[in-house]
Amino acid sequence: MKAIYPGSFDPVTYGHIDIIRRSASKFDKVIVAVLNNSSKNGFFTIEERLDLLRKTTKDIKNVEIDSFSGLLIDYTKMKDVNIVIKGLRAVSDFEYEMQMALANKKLYPELETLFMVSSTKYSFLSSSIVKEVAFLGGDVSCFVPKIVEDALKNKVKGGL
Ligand code: PNS
Repeated sequence: MKAIYPGSFDPVTYGHIDIIRRSASKFDKVIVAVLNNSSKNGFFTIEERLDLLRKTTKDIKNVEIDSFSGLLIDYTKMKDVNIVIKGLRAVSDFEYEMQMALANKKLYPELETLFMVSSTKYSFLSSSIVKEVAFLGGDVSCFVPKIVEDALKNKVKGGL
């Protein structure tokens, strides 16, 4: 059975990698799908995010890294996968995730959204926190792999 794990991944963190690794141990294949949102400028470009995801998950054999634009339900149909995995860190995530899951279900009833609870050690972690700490010169080595830390440093040094 296959599943899609969608998100912004701007950039990938240890929290995401934890969800990817745990999902990959339960499904035959996990497609990590980066939203390519033309109306929203990210910190990293889509290509940079894909590259960081590929490099930080290269040891997990049944993971594919891809990008999509438009509606998630259309992408899942195109990939012929009807399971979406979302990570839940805290109750604060729940309302928004529930809303998206129900809207997606209404639009595409065969789609199931499965919530995977974050590991406690990553329950506070988000890409936004990582970017803020990096931008203000803090140490992000406990939040992201070295390659992501270096990419953040380069971005910050280069003035974004
Ligand atoms: O990592 P994020 O930013 O929480 O991921 C959100 C994402 C990409 C999963 C969500 O915004 C999404 O699915 N966007 C695609 C557009 C879409 O289908 N919108 C309708 C959802 S009800």
